[in-house]
Amino acid sequence: MQYKKGDCEEMKKTINGRILYLALISYSAVGLLVPTAGQARMGENQPCSNCHTMHNSQNNASMNMDGSTTSHAPGAALLMETGCVACHTGVNTASSGIPYVLDSTSGDDLAGGNFTYVAAADANGHNIVGIDGVDGALGTAPGGSMTTQLTCAGTMGCHGDRLEADQFGAISGAHHGVSSGGATMSGADLNNSYRMLLGVQGIEDADWEKSTSATDHNQYYGVARNAEGDSTTGTISALCAACHGDFHGDVNAGTTMSNPWIRHPTDFDMDDTAADSEYRSYGGAGVNAYVPGVPVASSDMSDGVLSAVFGAGAGDVGTDAIVTCVSCHRVHASEFADMLRWQYSGMVAHGTASNDNVAGCFACHTTKDDI
Ligand code: HEC
Ligand code: HEC
Ligand code: HEC
Ligand code: HEC
Ligand code: HEC
Repeated sequence: MQYKKGDCEEMKKTINGRILYLALISYSAVGLLVPTAGQARMGENQPCSNCHTMHNSQNNASMNMDGSTTSHAPGAALLMETGCVACHTGVNTASSGIPYVLDSTSGDDLAGGNFTYVAAADANGHNIVGIDGVDGALGTAPGGSMTTQLTCAGTMGCHGDRLEADQFGAISGAHHGVSSGGATMSGADLNNSYRMLLGVQGIEDADWEKSTSATDHNQYYGVARNAEGDSTTGTISALCAACHGDFHGDVNAGTTMSNPWIRHPTDFDMDDTAADSEYRSYGGAGVNAYVPGVPVASSDMSDGVLSAVFGAGAGDVGTDAIVTCVSCHRVHASEFADMLRWQYSGMVAHGTASNDNVAGCFACHTTKDDI
């Protein structure tokens, strides 16, 4: 099931009448958290009191960002909220200025996807504490061994320092340090890491890909591996590999990065395929425009946000058409099983419905679409 505008009642039933949802609607409405798009820093031109409380007590009642007096324990970092989810639930608009990763209303999913789809089916995404219960089918991370339910940040999550158990400890300072969209992140420290993912490199799109085009998108970092063991430090796929290791590092029956594959390659560069291979028509033969719906990673962030790959775009120096986990998957959740970017069962080989070589598997396997 997908949510549509006005599915408020359904939403309340499905997500267990989560009070947060209502709270968020009201505090977006009162404008407490409505920074302008592309703002330089979290809380810019806002008083501390919009987000922080010194004692979690006003007239002897708990402080909440929506102004209500619902009782809760004091929040980490002296915040008026006790988790990440509350602030990141809302309706994405052109000017929301905050990435809402749980948005049951707008249909404007951001680059990571939208956790609202996990309520419909566990297989649609990562089941995160504070949003959903434990995944009904997957007790561990496929391709790995992690057994505890995921959190947004810290040891059991993706954001921040993954050696730090506490979520807010893991991201401490990152919100006030967040730089404006378009910044190139070196991964050197948390403030310079792509989307607060410690160590990950990349270029951050200013509106988290609410709008996309060949020139308007996140630029992911990848490595053109020759052997499975080559270092992939800082790549977005290496982050996934922290929990799904086998799917990243065990792709060939031997150790090379070449046919015959036993799992789909990632951190593998399509520049390394034959000049007449089907892959060379990614984004259109000779044009090779970047396809934001099927992103490929680049190995050199100083090349900037690429509008085309395989030497077809300005600033393009090659090793820039790298298959990555996020070429096929969203990272939070999608409307499709296995949190894929498209319906896998809709990928029909040599069928009559043309996908114009730009969608799904056909973006790269361009000859498998043709009759
Ligand atoms: C729009 C909301 C918002 C506003 C306004 C805001 N903060 Fe924060 N602050 C946060 C969040 C969220 C965190 C915790 C996450 C993190 O550390 O990244 C935080 C963390 C902190 C921390 C701990 C991490 C660090 O950087 O050392 C301090 C100290 C802090 N804020 C001080 C302030 C002060 C002082 C003000 C007012 C001048 C202020 N904040 C205004 C949201 C806000
Ligand atoms: C008090 C509200 C608040 C809380 C609590 C909060 N955030 Fe945020 N977060 C924001 C706002 C506002 C922004 C947008 C700031 C910006 O990008 O300038 C943001 C941005 C982000 C971003 C995007 C950064 C980027 O590169 O664009 C990430 C990732 C994030 N938060 C993760 C978290 C995690 C993880 C937690 C919990 C540990 C958390 N947030 C808790 C308000 C909050
Ligand atoms: C901190 C560990 C961790 C990281 C990092 C991580 N995952 Fe997962 N992933 C899990 C766990 C645990 C599950 C199974 C439970 C669930 O779905 O919530 C899972 C499930 C999945 C599923 C199956 C979804 C389902 O419910 O059937 C996909 C697909 C997936 N992950 C892809 C990714 C991708 C892509 C990345 C990198 C962007 C990534 N994961 C990063 C732990 C992780
Ligand atoms: C070429 C597209 C593609 C790439 C690249 C890709 N995946 Fe997948 N992934 C899929 C498809 C399709 C499925 C559905 C099941 C299947 O065919 O294995 C899937 C399934 C999964 C699952 C669920 C497995 C289960 O047992 O339910 C996980 C976890 C996952 N992928 C993680 C990753 C990670 C981590 C990476 C990067 C190292 C990655 N994927 C790269 C297409 C891809
Ligand atoms: C971002 C580009 C990209 C996408 C999207 C993609 N693939 Fe691939 N795929 C590749 C590359 C590159 C190779 C390895 C090519 C080589 O060995 O020369 C590959 C290899 C394969 C192979 C093994 C071929 C062989 O030579 O052994 C299969 C099968 C495959 N992909 C199926 C799929 C399916 C199914 C999907 C959609 C779920 C998909 N791929 C999506 C780029 C992609």
